[in-house]
Amino acid sequence: AALAGVRGGSADVAAGSGAALRWSDLSLRIEGSDGKKDKVVLQRCFGEAAPGRLTALMGPEGSGKTSLLSALAGEAAAGKGVRLEGRVAVNGCRSGESTYGYVKKQDLFYAQMTVRETLMFAARHRLPRGVTLEEKHAIVDELLIKLELAGVADAIVGGKESKGGISGGEKKRLSIACELIGDPKILFLDEPTSGLSAAEAELVVESLRTLAEGGCTILCVLHEPSSRVFSMFDDLVLLTPQGEPAYAGSVEAMPEFFNSVGHAFPNDTCPGEVAMGLVNIPFEGTELEVESAARVAAIVKAARRKIAPRMPLMGRRRVITNNPLRRRVNAIVESTRKKQAGDGGFRARVAAIVEAARNKLSLATRRRKAVAAIVEAARNKLSLATRRRKAVAAIVEAARNKL
Ligand SMILES: Nc1ncnc2c1ncn2[C@@H]1O[C@H](COP(=O)(O)OP(=O)(O)O)[C@@H](O)[C@H]1O
Ligand SMILES: [Mg+2]
Repeated sequence: AALAGVRGGSADVAAGSGAALRWSDLSLRIEGSDGKKDKVVLQRCFGEAAPGRLTALMGPEGSGKTSLLSALAGEAAAGKGVRLEGRVAVNGCRSGESTYGYVKKQDLFYAQMTVRETLMFAARHRLPRGVTLEEKHAIVDELLIKLELAGVADAIVGGKESKGGISGGEKKRLSIACELIGDPKILFLDEPTSGLSAAEAELVVESLRTLAEGGCTILCVLHEPSSRVFSMFDDLVLLTPQGEPAYAGSVEAMPEFFNSVGHAFPNDTCPGEVAMGLVNIPFEGTELEVESAARVAAIVKAARRKIAPRMPLMGRRRVITNNPLRRRVNAIVESTRKKQAGDGGFRARVAAIVEAARNKLSLATRRRKAVAAIVEAARNKLSLATRRRKAVAAIVEAARNKL
């Protein structure tokens, strides 16, 4: 009965239509080139993320959070010399077919597009051909409301400094909206609150809460969250500096687990902060470092013994390859990145064409005006000649009369 709460939302997982994500024995190794030693990034990690719940992924810098997220999203094995092994399952079955979105750390937009255009662009690329334009517009409108972006729908996204563009929090919510276009069951996010003000970070996580309550499974890397942000999460997956599992389960049951391995868990401090403190190993070359390393090793051992068996997975440990669906989306993102790096995006190109056309037009206008002036001058000269001719004629007439 002890640690009964550790498994968090697993009970409602089986009943609902959501996607319960689970992984175990997940290891990621990067083969060293030129005789260098292999780098072990993840060491037999386990954990789960349940629908309807917000799961935080935390650990010190370089502990493998981004790598774990990519591995679960089927993207980690992209490079040569990367070996990913273990078990990953959705609702007990091998993942792969399950749809998911992956909000990377860096937002990637055409700076000159509006929020709505950005979403339409994503809709055109990510939705199957069978979806009509009206349906795409409807999906975009719905997402604008869902992520509270309706107010800035027609604003230009803007560049990095967001000069004249939307705010950092709005950009992050736009990234999330783009990933939600295919209505994924699982959403991965890498540090979506980093670089945002406290208020913006809370708005982003509130959006995630709403999504989770709608049945989405959310695994979100958090870096130094405020206690308010952390308090919005239900579950925590914690990694050690060496990419080992230190905890996986509900935030609620965390004190119980750490108490059971001999660590006080003060209840007046943010639990996320306490947990991070317990897995931290200072690089000092002092006794403190040795002591911390021993503490972390004991925590990992306890987690493997007490928590891992509560998250069993059937089947063999296997080598995991990339998700083919993801490859397509990545190709699009990559080409976008290239285009943007090249010349500031297609908006800029359109602007250049319009500018050139405008110049040509004005040249034509100037030419037309010049011709008009010449014609006018010619007309004037003609009329002068006519008047002269008339004057001469009048003189001639008068002379004739006198004669
Ligand atoms: N493609 C790679 N090649 C070499 N080392 C890598 C690669 N990807 C990640 N690593 C290493 O794996 C470790 C974990 O990285 P990462 O997942 O980015 O950590 P975190 O997101 O927790 O900061 C780091 O030491 C990093 O240098
Ligand atoms: Mg990272």
